[in-house]
Amino acid sequence: MNKTLDQVLSEIATIRQSALADLGNAESNEQIESWRIKYLGRKDGQITNIMRSLSNLNNEDRPTVGATANELKNVLEVALDEKINAKDHSKNADDTIPSLDISLPGQKPVIGRLHPITQVVREICSVFESMGFQVVEGPEVEWDLYNFEMLNIPKGHPARDAWDTLWINYTDDNHQTPMLMRTHTSPMQARVMENSEPPVRVLVPGKCYRYEATDATHEWHFYQIEGLAVDKGISFANLKGTLYHFAKQLFGSERKIRFRCDYFPFVEPGVDMSIDCFNCSSSNLGPQNDCRICRGSGWIEILGAGMVHPQVLENVGYDSSIYTGFAFGMGPERIAMLKYGIQDIRLFYENDMRFLKQF
Ligand code: PHE
Repeated sequence: MNKTLDQVLSEIATIRQSALADLGNAESNEQIESWRIKYLGRKDGQITNIMRSLSNLNNEDRPTVGATANELKNVLEVALDEKINAKDHSKNADDTIPSLDISLPGQKPVIGRLHPITQVVREICSVFESMGFQVVEGPEVEWDLYNFEMLNIPKGHPARDAWDTLWINYTDDNHQTPMLMRTHTSPMQARVMENSEPPVRVLVPGKCYRYEATDATHEWHFYQIEGLAVDKGISFANLKGTLYHFAKQLFGSERKIRFRCDYFPFVEPGVDMSIDCFNCSSSNLGPQNDCRICRGSGWIEILGAGMVHPQVLENVGYDSSIYTGFAFGMGPERIAMLKYGIQDIRLFYENDMRFLKQF
């Protein structure tokens, strides 16, 4: 049944009274918000409902009611704004909905960083890239064929003992050799040469694995970076010049290098390379020198290297009477330990943020 004009106007007057009284009593932000929904809410607010019911009124009554309801709506909206403002400025504000304080310092987003070993690997790669080496990667799960046999380490060769191997219980018809977790990055020497013609200049960073107990200087998984250069007329002088440049780039331009004989079946001659100790400047050699980096020897071994063995070149189909080359392999963990004075290799893989954040 349609309401009369008087009924509707008195309804609006009642709403006005109770709305203003309710607003006066509303204290918390939640109470204010439910007040807004009760009177001004779009779905079921009392003012909204009056507006909606205008269509039920007579044509003559509609403008009067519409104007009265609209006026009340404005009054309530202004009253609500005033209430909110007064509350924001009052000392006793209930601050469950915090107001924006632009003087507060901002919250810094947490930005990650590269792992120290990744940083060192990239630094080493960029030194060799600037000398024309191409960076390539290879499989971490490898065939005995590449990890050992192609590198002049046949089955039963005593040198196999130098690489404590994690074997994988799998063979296939094509390779017919056991599968393993690569113990070094050197298998990529054979893989790269097998798939390309000289000249070759590659750098191979990657993960290696050994069946080894861990201690301060040994991990069972670690990185290596392999280097290989093969062409007509490559000599030991090229190896020296290249690695000398590398040592100076990484450890400072005043570095000296030293080569000593070493044995790896896939190079001949084989060497290990040391740099002079950047910590004690090797000025005071002998037992009285307690430098924790070189232990008083003045020298720090940083990599193994040598001229690629002719048999390895022949194994991949290169004519060893035409081509020669050099190869080297280094451990970026060891280089990072030296560079940053870290005493225990295991720290790199403990994922302790307090350690990692320092780099
Ligand atoms: N692959 C050797 C190792 O793991 C290092 C090496 C690489 C030595 C290349 C000589 C030439 O110890």
